[in-house]
Amino acid sequence: MLFNSWCEISLSAIEQNYKEFERIVGPGAIVAPVVKANAYGHGIELVSTALRAAGAACLCVNEVDEGLRLRASGDQGRLYVVGYSAFEQLSDAVEAALDLVVYNRETVDALAPLCARLERPLGLHLKLETGNNRQGLPIDQALELADEIRRRPGLCLEGVTTHFADIEDTTDHTFAMQQLGRFQRGVDALVAAGHDVPLRHCTNTAAVILFPETYFNLVRVGIGTFGMWPSKETLVTAVQARRHQIHLEPALSWKSRVAQVKDVARGEYIGYGRTYQTTHETRLAIVPVGYYDGYDRRLSNLAHVLVRGHRAPVRGRICMNMLMIDVTHVPDVALEDEVVLLGTQGEQRVSAEQLASWIGTINYEVTTRIHERLPRLPR
Ligand SMILES: Cc1ncc(COP(=O)(O)O)c(C=O)c1O
Repeated sequence: MLFNSWCEISLSAIEQNYKEFERIVGPGAIVAPVVKANAYGHGIELVSTALRAAGAACLCVNEVDEGLRLRASGDQGRLYVVGYSAFEQLSDAVEAALDLVVYNRETVDALAPLCARLERPLGLHLKLETGNNRQGLPIDQALELADEIRRRPGLCLEGVTTHFADIEDTTDHTFAMQQLGRFQRGVDALVAAGHDVPLRHCTNTAAVILFPETYFNLVRVGIGTFGMWPSKETLVTAVQARRHQIHLEPALSWKSRVAQVKDVARGEYIGYGRTYQTTHETRLAIVPVGYYDGYDRRLSNLAHVLVRGHRAPVRGRICMNMLMIDVTHVPDVALEDEVVLLGTQGEQRVSAEQLASWIGTINYEVTTRIHERLPRLPR
């Protein structure tokens, strides 16, 4: 192993989570895992291969580059790009047969000449603006763009889509239901205008867990694929609605190893800025991982890691490539002992949610911030 820290990815957990969503959703809708952002930090090629083997017919990426990466790794299935595709990326996208989300007339104009002679038309998914005020078009403009797509040989309206603004951050889902109503009206308007839109999709994990009425015929599932719940609010709502009988298995462990063990006298300072002073004779272990690797500097003097099955607190500031932990209470810590930054060891567990709560963020950010250069090893 040429790296001082690495992630281990449980492919059986990924497969199990995917199957769990298939079970919940039933045969009426395609489960389309979201593997953008390096599969939420889990390793896009590794995870996508496992998901295809588990039966995933469609994978969602954020941008063309991610789609190309998957094509280069041999992926030949449907890939849907949920984020923006810039003009200069469009010819690559067409060549790689990526389905694209569209919400600009200019994009359709730029695609038309590139696709005019395609054997199979390029699939476009029209994004409806239903309240997120991110990507998307209001219904009247979406209808115009759909007409435009219909006029262009080589392009086809493959899907209609939207995205919820406020479904995992709250236990009050009034706004989400309003968005769903707008989406439904948009779909109806397209159908009434003679557009046969094969795929209709608006979910994220929270919607899939909580609201079967959001499924239509394709569901996008991100965070849940990796075994994490979107939020406490989603869990609370699921319990109230008795929809919590779902088992998600976290797939990612992040590990390093002890680089040095040393005894430090009482009253010594530890690390940059001398932000920690020992209150007792302390046995310290140095761990060669830092904020460059994605271990957030705000975890300084706050987080715990696991070593020899014990929790060991981080002492002093996280450095760029190192951190220090107190192992005074842990018997026999030795050079090269395994250190778990995220995951389980013996009876102990540090979850992405725990790390997130220490620094005021969400589990999504914790795993996506783990540096891409660190290896993701199948386990
Ligand atoms: C367009 C779109 N769909 C689906 C998802 C998946 O959301 P989640 O990870 O909450 O399932 C995302 C994630 O941000 C997204 O941007």
